[in-house]
Amino acid sequence: MLVNATRMLKLAHEGHYAVGHFNINNLEWTKAILLEAEAQKSPVILGVSEGAGKYMGGFKVVAAMVKALDESLGITVPVALHLDHGSYEGVKACIAAGFTSVMFDGSSLPFEENIAKTKELVDLAHDHGLSIEAEVGAIGGTEDGITADGEIADPEECAKIVALGVDFLAAGIGNIHGIYPKDWTGLHIDALEKIQKATGGIPLVLHGGTGIPDDQIKAAIAGGMSKINVNTDCQLVFAEATKEYCLAGKADPTADNKSKGYDPRKLLKPGFEAIRAKVKEKMELFGSVGKAA
Ligand code: 13P
Repeated sequence: MLVNATRMLKLAHEGHYAVGHFNINNLEWTKAILLEAEAQKSPVILGVSEGAGKYMGGFKVVAAMVKALDESLGITVPVALHLDHGSYEGVKACIAAGFTSVMFDGSSLPFEENIAKTKELVDLAHDHGLSIEAEVGAIGGTEDGITADGEIADPEECAKIVALGVDFLAAGIGNIHGIYPKDWTGLHIDALEKIQKATGGIPLVLHGGTGIPDDQIKAAIAGGMSKINVNTDCQLVFAEATKEYCLAGKADPTADNKSKGYDPRKLLKPGFEAIRAKVKEKMELFGSVGKAA
C-alpha cells in the first residue's frame, strides 16, 4: 500500500526501531525490495535519486511502475515512494508525478535560502498529502556525482528547519555516503543527542547506511534515527552476484549454451535474490520486521 512516510516513521521513533530506505534503480530492485518487505511484514521506503529517476525514464515512469508493482504483487505493508536528495525543481516534479514522499536537500545552499525553499516546499508537499524530509549539514561522500565533506549538523540550524513543519530531518553526524574511509572516526552519537534534544523528538534520518558497524547503527536508532538510507550495499551485492553468474560462464555469448545465457531474466535473478537477502539483513538489524501497521 503506497502511503506517505509520516506515520511509519512516527511509529518507528516511538518504538525505537528504524525503517529502511532502500534506493531503487530498476524494476528488479523495486520488486526485490517490495517482496522482501512483504515477507518480513515490515514498512519500507523506496528511495529514488534524481539520477536514478532519469535513468528509469523519468519520475512519472517510476511512480507508475511502483504503484502497479505494489498492486499486482499484492503488497499489504506500508510503502513510501520517496525522492532522495531532491532539488527544488525535482521536489515539484515528484509531487506532480505521484510520489508519496520527498526530500528537499538544501544543505549546500546558504542557510537562509535553505530555510526559504524548505518552507515553500513543506507547504506544497503537505497540501498534496506527501511527507517531506529536509537536510541540514551536508552528508559526506558522493551522491549522483556530488561530493561533500562529512559534516556534523548544528543543532540550532536543525531546530530552525524543523520549526518549518518538516516531517523528518537528515542531520549529519559524521556519516558518509558510499564506502567509509579506513580512518573514519565513526558516528558522533554525542552530536546526535544534542540534535535530537534541540529538535523536540522529531524522527531523524541517517544517510550513508552502508558500512556502519552494527553497534553504531543500534546506538543511532536509540538516539532517534528512525529512517536509515541504504544504497551502496545493494549495489555491491547486486554487482557481485551478477559477476559470479557471468564468471560461471552462464552469460557467455560465445558458449554453447548461448540460448540460455542471453535471457536477462536469468542474468538478473542472482542479483535480485542478493538484494532480497540484503534487505532482510537490514530490516532485522533496524528492528522493523513485523512492524507493518
Ligand atoms: P549508502 O550508499 O552509503 O548506503 O547511502 C545511501 C544514502 O544515504 C542515500 O541517500
